[in-house]
Amino acid sequence: MSDFVRLTKDQDIAVITIDNPPVNALSPGVTEAIVAAVEHMEKDDRVKATVLIGAGKTFIAGADIKEFVKLTSGQRQDDIGILPQLLKIENSPKPVVVAIHGNALGGGLEVAQACHYRVAAADARVGQPEVNLGIIPGAGGTQRLPRLVGIEQAIEMCTTGKPVKTSQAAQFGLIDRAIEGDLLAGAVAFAREIAGKPIPKTRERSDKLGTPEENAAIFAAARENARKKYHNQICQLAAIDAIEAATKLPFEQGCEEERRLFDTCLYSDQSKAQIHVFFAEREVSKIPDIPKELPVIPVNSIAIVGAGTMGGGIAMVCANAGVPVLLKDTDPAALDRGIGAMRRNYDISVKRGRFTQAYVDERMKLIKTTLGYDDFVNADMVIEAVFETMPLKKQVFAELDRVCKKGAILSSNTSTLNIDEIAAMTSRPEAVIGMHFFSPANVMRLLEIVRGRRTGKEVIATCMQLSKKLGKVGVLVGNCRGFVGNRMFLPYIREAQFLVEEGAAPEAVDKALVDWGMAMGPLAVGDLGGLDVAYRIRKEYKQLETPGARQPFLEDRLVEMGRLGQKTGAGWYKYDAERRASSDPEIPPLVKKWVAESGVPQRQISAEEIVAREIYSLVNEGARILEEGYALRAGDIDTIYVNGYAFPAYRGGPLWYADTVGLKSVYDRVCEFHRQHGALWEPARMLKELATSGGTFANFQRVTAQATD
Ligand code: CAA
Ligand code: NAI
Repeated sequence: MSDFVRLTKDQDIAVITIDNPPVNALSPGVTEAIVAAVEHMEKDDRVKATVLIGAGKTFIAGADIKEFVKLTSGQRQDDIGILPQLLKIENSPKPVVVAIHGNALGGGLEVAQACHYRVAAADARVGQPEVNLGIIPGAGGTQRLPRLVGIEQAIEMCTTGKPVKTSQAAQFGLIDRAIEGDLLAGAVAFAREIAGKPIPKTRERSDKLGTPEENAAIFAAARENARKKYHNQICQLAAIDAIEAATKLPFEQGCEEERRLFDTCLYSDQSKAQIHVFFAEREVSKIPDIPKELPVIPVNSIAIVGAGTMGGGIAMVCANAGVPVLLKDTDPAALDRGIGAMRRNYDISVKRGRFTQAYVDERMKLIKTTLGYDDFVNADMVIEAVFETMPLKKQVFAELDRVCKKGAILSSNTSTLNIDEIAAMTSRPEAVIGMHFFSPANVMRLLEIVRGRRTGKEVIATCMQLSKKLGKVGVLVGNCRGFVGNRMFLPYIREAQFLVEEGAAPEAVDKALVDWGMAMGPLAVGDLGGLDVAYRIRKEYKQLETPGARQPFLEDRLVEMGRLGQKTGAGWYKYDAERRASSDPEIPPLVKKWVAESGVPQRQISAEEIVAREIYSLVNEGARILEEGYALRAGDIDTIYVNGYAFPAYRGGPLWYADTVGLKSVYDRVCEFHRQHGALWEPARMLKELATSGGTFANFQRVTAQATD
């Protein structure tokens, strides 16, 4: 019939199977092919109803996002809207039943809403995730969804973008029947039941739309919530506007309003940035010198060394993915503390309804503890998370080399130490790799996978694949100090101190960045992690400082006073028993005194300068990392920042953001900071080259996976 659909019959029921791998996205021609198949069946007298189902692992995952990029970059100008096609399906004189497995997302769920009935496999998920791309549903979803599920639920789904499971979707009327067992057989049986009955059209319904009086308070609350929760972002408010239009305008006019709002969002910088983030996150798994077909090492059991903050969190991550874990510590009390912390974490998840108690009990059964290395021989992989000192790491790896079986992967969660130096303690450096999780490990999505000089390709391929199984975004980075994320973060937090030393209040520094879009300000982040952490790093690596370069001094003084941040109740801010922050009146006189002693001239500093100093410090270091080959692509660095450092996705990551500002302008500003503040602001060579040649980070790509130190 077409490359995109197959047409078959089960007696009086027609079956249209959409087949557009990998995710049945609505690429050009797919919706047209579905409509042609539906119309073909209308003419077949023997057919009483049609089932629409997806081939492969999922129903339709939405519009083809690549086409949006073509539109906004001017590569195509035609209208790719599918609304008229969906109307044709809805107007069919014979009922169309959608059978959903995997995901029905975005345009996929909009297709389903235009059909007359929806059945779904028990483990399917349906959602309108468009806000994750900075847009709103654009094929009638904001008009049909509220008619099916009511205003409040439609707002929830369209503003959070979170998909819901079949059982929940059935509760609020989006799914007509959950099918246990064979989906197609269940859908065909359902189609036979409803054949010949009146055909419901979603667009003609209004029973769940409420009255203007009832709705006014709902929309006002939704807007207030969206402004707070999605600070600076336009698409959530646009989604609410479109849903409100559904309650006030006839269906056709509502769709026109939806389309207007959709276009505004799609052509915004925010959407372009979020679509970049979507593709960058998927691009990270493509490593030039590691072919996709390279065999991976089966990882069916993991041993973790060190049951502290990170070891415990990583154990939960593995157990949540169904991988049995052996957790080792030298200290029985540490093991008890580790297991206790896990239980508390899981209890919170049960209370919040995220997990059931039965699920948690199953996970905890997967975690065994030990004080010795006896059972390590069975582990396919080890993740070391002991204290951050090189002699200890070396000792542990020498021991692992002795006790682990041949072929086991030996990884370290170190955040600063040299992977090659650790690997040199073993007889198998090809098995050694960095697995740098972020804290809290069971929450943060980012995982930096650190490639040593001799790390084997199968080991890298295995860790990249394992990161997906663990629910993480694994990004391959090179073995430099701080790897990628923390190496860039160091100048960022240093610059925040400089700004305070020059006269900005700590609150002003943090506020400027939060207003700009960061989840927290840099000084508050320091307090959260503990000011002593960076203090120790500064002391340990003093010899690596740029000679003659300016050094920050304020945080050292705070640490020396015992103000370590949240854990001691005071740092840049003071904290109550619930760790709520407030301004500390002790800070201004302390800063004034220390600054006066140092002689740094004081001045007024604007929010604009604060943001430029902070964000361009990330950009300049990011450019240096790219030019040195410690990251494969600018998009990898952006992925690290969005997933590990709460950089706003709607700004695309530091390097994407720099591209949107214009690299010439970023470079000029970095040069200005260099003149004013000295050696630390020396512009990265790559930034200079791209700025002067009119290039962008997005278009720069390394051709080899050069990632050694
Ligand atoms: N368009 C184009 N490509 C898509 C796509 C889409 N909607 N969804 C996924 N892909 C591609 C990915 O880029 C990836 O390609 P590569 O293998 O070349 O990297 C491939 O499909 C597989 O994707 P994942 O690696 O993400 O696979 P997964 O199994 O982990 O996840 C998924 C599957 C849950 C469907 C996930 O891909 C996903 O969430 N996709 C996006 C869904 C979405 O946002 N839909 C809304 C689109 S906007 C819209 O529909 C607007 C409208 O109103 C019409
Ligand atoms: P932690 O101090 O909470 O835990 C370390 C644990 O290792 C302790 O329980 C200790 O008893 C145990 N240990 C020490 N020697 C051992 C040995 N020979 N065998 C078995 N166990 C031993 O430390 P944390 O914070 O969990 O850090 C662990 C590693 O993770 C470090 O390398 C750190 O740099 C890294 N990391 C830490 C992050 C954080 O935010 N805490 C973030 C990312 C990485």
